[in-house]
Amino acid sequence: MSITILGIESSCDDTSAAVIRDGVLLSNVIASQSVHEEYGGVVPELASRAHQQNIVPVVAAALNRAGLDKKELSAIAFTRGPGLLGSLLVGTSFAKGMSLGLRCPIVDVNHLHGHVLSHFIRRTPDDTMPEYPFLTLLISGGNSQLILVRNYNDMEILGATIDDAAGEAFDKCAKVMGLPYPGGPHIDRLAQEGDASKFHFARPRIPGLDYSFSGLKTSFLYTLRDALKSDAGFVEKNRKDLAASLQRTIIEILVDKLDKAVKQTGVKTVAIGGGVSANSGVRQAIADYCGARGLKAFIPERAFTTDNAAMVAIAGYFKYLDKDFCGYDEVPYARVTV
Ligand code: KG4
Repeated sequence: MSITILGIESSCDDTSAAVIRDGVLLSNVIASQSVHEEYGGVVPELASRAHQQNIVPVVAAALNRAGLDKKELSAIAFTRGPGLLGSLLVGTSFAKGMSLGLRCPIVDVNHLHGHVLSHFIRRTPDDTMPEYPFLTLLISGGNSQLILVRNYNDMEILGATIDDAAGEAFDKCAKVMGLPYPGGPHIDRLAQEGDASKFHFARPRIPGLDYSFSGLKTSFLYTLRDALKSDAGFVEKNRKDLAASLQRTIIEILVDKLDKAVKQTGVKTVAIGGGVSANSGVRQAIADYCGARGLKAFIPERAFTTDNAAMVAIAGYFKYLDKDFCGYDEVPYARVTV
């Protein structure tokens, strides 16, 4: 008998619902919230309200696009954390109510596991998936982690950022340049036409597999501050080269530790995930790095890099196979690691 999972994601500012049947994606609907743009960042209170407005139509659209009646669902998987508590409460409460109405189980999903497992979402039954063990570089607005994935329920963090995440480095530096939030995609676009060797910024010297991006951010800020003293049009004249040089430095920092982790673990497969894995330069660098060493690279479709319910549904699918269900007294969590 087929196993059909509805996934619900509401951890930050995207309301998403997806349906997966036997590991194959039938639908993935995402409603992004534009309400935060004028504030230069996500406003938690507004995010919760927007989730309340979006969740019923988004779930209905996901079922509709999948061509399913809700009675055909085997289980409902939802993001339990980490994320904004008010946002998580909307998805969690909705999942509980729907499951009680349908008399089907609920499965709680760690959002970070979802990012890691997004490579198991198949468009067709023949799509290839990573073989365990593999290494994931999880890079988003809130995390920068190197994770050894031994199984879908056995993950070890080998290194993590000790200050800013890679996405924060993109966003904060973009803000200094006067670019809108989130700045990552703007840097990506500008960098494509810039000279990546024009500017040099500080790179961290910390041991082990941990990351640090705060020194780079400060170095970027000071470069602009000093140059602006003698030339008020410095940023305007050098936008593309600043973006390209910043992106190159972030990529070098990411790949440097990834290389150490690959050597340390001896894995043959590398995957990336999280919002920053949408970056063209990052995607190319990982493909080149793996290509040069005979490693298999798993680079997610752009639709699965940012927050989406398809990854929640696939993570829920694996837990469903283990009958690893969630009780109705469980509550969301704002913070957790993998
Ligand atoms: O995983 P995600 O959607 O959610 C959070 O962790 O919040 O990641 C969002 C982050 C933001 O910092 C955003 O600037 C970054 O991903 N991002 C990018 C690109 N697309 C999104 N950074 C660089 N280049 C991109 N193309």
